[in-house]
This record gives sequence, structure tokens and C-alpha cells, in this order.
Amino acid sequence: MTTAQAEVEAQKKAAADRALELIRPGTVVGLGSGSTARYFIEGLAERVRAGLDVRAVATSVESRRLAEAGRIPIAERVDGSFDLAVDGADEIDPAVNCLKGRGGALLREKIVAHASRRFVVIADESKLVGRLGRGPVPIEVLPFLWEATSRAIESLGGRPALRLAAGQPYKTDNDNLILDTTFGAVDAQLGTAIHAIPGVLEHGLFFGIARAAIIGCASGLRILGELG
Ligand code: A5P
Repeated sequence: MTTAQAEVEAQKKAAADRALELIRPGTVVGLGSGSTARYFIEGLAERVRAGLDVRAVATSVESRRLAEAGRIPIAERVDGSFDLAVDGADEIDPAVNCLKGRGGALLREKIVAHASRRFVVIADESKLVGRLGRGPVPIEVLPFLWEATSRAIESLGGRPALRLAAGQPYKTDNDNLILDTTFGAVDAQLGTAIHAIPGVLEHGLFFGIARAAIIGCASGLRILGELG
């Protein structure tokens, strides 16, 4: 690992460690997906070993596997909303809107984020952008007639590309496909228009969902929004 990579990993871990301080005993915690969320899950497992009473809901098969390996109790169903969900992001703007889903877990991530009272994003400083849309927007679509769904997305001004893994269509944990769609700068209205297309299950635009972001920076932690 280069010094620059080690610095990025340290920033992710510092953000995850700060988020661990937000957990209240006896609550349900939403676990995100990706390399930053992994630090949070590992830290939570340590706290559970030390006696913390929580249950978790995982946003991906991989995060659930990590949680189970760390002996974090999994909630199979949740009555009411969760107290807190913590997840990474691919892009974060100054108003804590996020672009997510490069890891492919966006559908369950958005369900969990939406169901939680406090959705807090953790990231290293490379994820900060002035405006969302630096990279493509991941869109999860049903495999049935996905080409028609792709054409409808194109009519909104996007350039969809079917995500591949080892030369084959990438399959999400829900057995769906991902169209990584380049739009340029994006806004909440675009998210609403994408959602209205039959065949679209979810997109990676998280406007107005996160309460706060904890950003690991070279100069220390930076908090956007309100953590409380
Ligand atoms: C997973 O689908 C994504 O939304 C991740 O939360 C996002 O890609 C951030 O991942 P890293 O923490 O690995 O950058």
C-alpha cells in the first residue's frame, strides 16, 4: 500500500470511528456496504464483543457476512424505524446529498437509509464534490426488457452502460442489473424522473436523505450537517 492509499484508509477509519460514538444501546443499526462501511462494521463487532446491546440490518450480502463473522446480532424484521444507519458514499455535496451505488448495493442501501431516523454518511475527503454527477449514476433495473428501460433512461439525457463483471452482466444481490448512467451534473428532479420509468427499481441519487456526513480529512474530521 502506498503512503497516499494508507492516508485514505486512515481517513475512512477515522470517520467510521466517529460514527460508532453515535450508537445508542438497545437500538437497531443499519449497516452500509463498501470499504468505509466495513470499518464501521468491524468497529461495531468490537463493541458488541465488549458487551454493547444492538441489533443490525445489513444492506448487502457481504455486509451481512461481515456482521455475522463479527457476531453482531442480525434483526430479521424491524417494527418501526431504525435509530441510525451508517453508510459510505461515492460523492457527497455540501448539502449532504449523496451519489451511491458503485458497490451495487444501492436498492437495499436506500431502503435502510430511508427507514432510519438518522442516516449518517462516512467517507474520506476524496468523496467531496461541489455538485453531484462527477461520475455515472448507478441505476438498478429489472432484467426483463432492460434494453427498453435503458432507452427510456437515454431519453432523459443519460448515457447508460450495462455494468459488467468478468465480461458478464453484473447481478445485484437482488438478481437485477445495473446501468451506470452518465448525465453530467444531476439534481433531485432528475431522480424523480428516473424513478418514474417502469423497470427502474432504484437509482443512486440520495437527495435530502442523509442528516450528516463525517468526512475524514488530512487536517482531521469534518462534519457536514447535524449528527444529533
Ligand atoms: C455501495 O453500493 C456503495 O453505495 C458504497 O457505499 C459506496 O460505493 C462507497 O464505497 P467505499 O466506501 O468503498 O468507497
